[in-house]
Amino acid sequence: MIVGAGPAGLLLSQLLHLQGIESVVLERCDRAYVEARVRAGVLEHGTAETLREAGISTRMDAEGMPHDGTELRFARARHRIDFATLTGRHIVVYGQQEIVKDLIAARFHAGADVRFEVDDVALHDLDSDRPRVTAGGESIEADFVIGADGFHGISRDHLADPSVYERTYPFAWLGILAEAPPSSRELIYCRHENGFALHSMRSPSITRMYLQVPATEDIGDWSDDRIWSELTTRLATDDGFELTEGPLLDKSITPMRSFVATPMQQGRLLIAGDAAHIVPPTGAKGMNLAIADVRLLSRALGGYYQDGRDDLVAAYTETALRRVWRATHFSWWMTTMLHTDPDGDAFSEQLANAQLDYVTASTAMATSLAENYTGLPYEQGWSYR
Ligand code: APR
Ligand code: PHB
Repeated sequence: MIVGAGPAGLLLSQLLHLQGIESVVLERCDRAYVEARVRAGVLEHGTAETLREAGISTRMDAEGMPHDGTELRFARARHRIDFATLTGRHIVVYGQQEIVKDLIAARFHAGADVRFEVDDVALHDLDSDRPRVTAGGESIEADFVIGADGFHGISRDHLADPSVYERTYPFAWLGILAEAPPSSRELIYCRHENGFALHSMRSPSITRMYLQVPATEDIGDWSDDRIWSELTTRLATDDGFELTEGPLLDKSITPMRSFVATPMQQGRLLIAGDAAHIVPPTGAKGMNLAIADVRLLSRALGGYYQDGRDDLVAAYTETALRRVWRATHFSWWMTTMLHTDPDGDAFSEQLANAQLDYVTASTAMATSLAENYTGLPYEQGWSYR
């Protein structure tokens, strides 16, 4: 039984199916809403491989945009981090909602039991061998219950005595989707005295951009003109960068936090993705971590059903957390290096500038950024070499 039809729940259901293990997916929202939700868009090398393994990569391989590097911009100058040269890997830019659409289509094509608009899911008997999920007046027994119900879901509340680690940030991201061709071939992570800005994209005709704003900001205070003007100011370079504008298709504010709840399991309940951990979006790790969790879970459950092993399920939290904490550190590090801290002082400003200078001048530091960004290996330690 899987609660939540985000990338985590849907992909797990698909990966289990490929091993002959069937599941029911229960989702609170309707299908159109889940498919339209604009979220992240950067796939690590291994995430793209996992989607290929899941057999849902046809559209990603045709429409996704492989990027061999990214730009760090500060003090009105551009600095490229060359992923391909530093790590031999690349990322793929492809919207999360496109992955969700591809997964839903694949699951229905295979005749899967995916139910939308189920808004009264409750979990029972999780410490027994036959946990139950009740929803819509029905009671369904299962071997395992997977909580893939995101940060606001119900499954995390069933952990008996969780440890929670949390950091909030005094800023948020105002995100826009614009009908305009990207102004750069690659992503641009920009530090400016007014705050962070990010240039990203969804296709050759759609740009996705973000601005750091105060945590308490009201979206009503940001007219389209004000957004373009601020993006232009922050992204300006001495060599004349030009930003292509266009009509806005979406505009929203996302709070930033780091959050880890552990253990990620309780009896027959296993939780994955945003239900267990949140990272600030600066390293583009949220969806990649969710996918790494369910890749691990699909292997642990495969071991349980195919080989009668329960050690992989027992080790789930410990194995998953190593990657979760690595990504939590990387996301925090990228965030502090690239944002201006409204509560900070001149000292922390200088530290962030020194760090950016070092990352862009030192091959060792650039390699560290590149290997974290393109995604560390799933197995055999953290090194590709
Ligand atoms: N019952 C059923 N479904 C639920 C419930 C509930 N009580 N609570 C939440 N859900 C659903 C949500 O509607 C959502 O569709 O669970 C799903 C969780 O999906 P996501 O929030 O996308 O989380 P996850 O699959 O872990 O993916 C993580 O999403 O938030 C982004 O940046 C994050 O990219 C990352 C990714
Ligand atoms: C996005 O394209 O939405 C995006 C890209 C990079 C990030 C976060 C979001 O770090």
